[in-house]
Amino acid sequence: MKVLIIGSGGREHAICYALSKSSKVTEIHAIPGNPGIAKLGTCHNASVEDLEYILKFVEEHNIDLTVVGPEVPLCMGLADLLEANGHKVFGPCKAAATLEGSKAFSKDFMKRHNIPTAAYANVDNYEDAVKTLKEFSYPVVIKADGLAAGKGVVICEDEDVAIKTLKEFLIDGALSGAGKTVVLEEFLTGFECSLLCFTDSETIIPMVTAKDHKQIFDGNLGPNTGGMGTISPNPFMPDNMDDVLKNEILDPFMKGLKEDNLDFRGVIFIGLMIENGHAKVLEFNVRFGDPETQVIMLRLKSDIYDIMYATATKSLKDINISWSDEVAGCVVLASKGYPGSYPKGLEIIGLDDVDSDIIVFHAGTKEVDSKIVTNGGRVLNVCTTGNSLEEVRNKIYNAIEKIDFDGKYCRKDIGLR
Ligand SMILES: Nc1ncnc2c1ncn2[C@@H]1O[C@H](COP(=O)(O)OP(=O)(O)O)[C@@H](O)[C@H]1O
Ligand SMILES: [Mg+2]
Repeated sequence: MKVLIIGSGGREHAICYALSKSSKVTEIHAIPGNPGIAKLGTCHNASVEDLEYILKFVEEHNIDLTVVGPEVPLCMGLADLLEANGHKVFGPCKAAATLEGSKAFSKDFMKRHNIPTAAYANVDNYEDAVKTLKEFSYPVVIKADGLAAGKGVVICEDEDVAIKTLKEFLIDGALSGAGKTVVLEEFLTGFECSLLCFTDSETIIPMVTAKDHKQIFDGNLGPNTGGMGTISPNPFMPDNMDDVLKNEILDPFMKGLKEDNLDFRGVIFIGLMIENGHAKVLEFNVRFGDPETQVIMLRLKSDIYDIMYATATKSLKDINISWSDEVAGCVVLASKGYPGSYPKGLEIIGLDDVDSDIIVFHAGTKEVDSKIVTNGGRVLNVCTTGNSLEEVRNKIYNAIEKIDFDGKYCRKDIGLR
């Protein structure tokens, strides 16, 4: 089978790694891919937003399954376009992808289907927003409606900050397209975790848990990033949550998809806040998380192609997924300055010096004159599995000593309590 993967990050490299182990997959293509993916398949230089090019590519190369990594092409309707032309896609259609593409839509969906979530109000102009603000206490959460690449949520400690944020979002247009509508939200306490599930709109199958580390510095200090490392399983997820999550979140979610006629075939990533044995949904993402996927794929024992094909063809009910009991870890090597501005084009050395049980996924790299250079804020994901977190941490941090580029930065506390 020939598979096309859309995207260029560590998440997509991890998916390709799993696909490369499949007994069914004979060819892997990526648009645009990265130098790590290029060792497992063929990369084709085009934009993930060039839907017409992707359709033409699928037809010319007789692709059997297209797997979409990032949210932007899904929200643009890539799955709809490919499906309409008779091609199989892992990734939801545009209407279902709006669960991530519009936070206002997503909150209304949760309310309509009794999925527990923070109290909220959607507003689309500054005057109404200021009036509605009076209904909330502080801190209040203000969220831009549309896709904002992680920059659209502000937790406001007091009214001054809230007013200033509303002004920026609704009058100054700080987030351009993402900020025309704003969601005001009750601030939730508890501990945050996420649950990734495969679903084909009929069946939903949770994956093993993973814990992200969002802040740039050790001890969860400093500004938020795309994610500085992950471990799986998530040691903070209470053991007895399965039934609660099924009854209170997953069942109403599936009922909601059905009632609203949303065709969802892919990964639903549910951001949760857990307190006193109950969970509330913070947000939905409609694709694999990055870097959660890196550790989840390392624990997957079943053939990923079977799972993805079954998801795309609505036969997930026939699939059993088995997972390794091992612990998996991933530490992100970032560029100096990230998540602010950072240099690019710095040579990376030592990639071939790591032990064979270390897997290095490429997140932001580029090949120039047969050298691998940095090409993003998050550059590499150094990953492995083992019998304990301690073993995994030791192996990863030893490997990190062997890899180098100017300004290499990582958190030292990934997987520490
Ligand atoms: N209602 C809320 N209460 C407390 N914290 C929140 C709330 N909503 C969001 N957050 C915090 O803000 C972060 C980003 O919000 P989220 O809804 O996940 O948006 P996005 O990932 O699109 O930026 C969350 O991971 C969480 O830490
Ligand atoms: Mg989020």
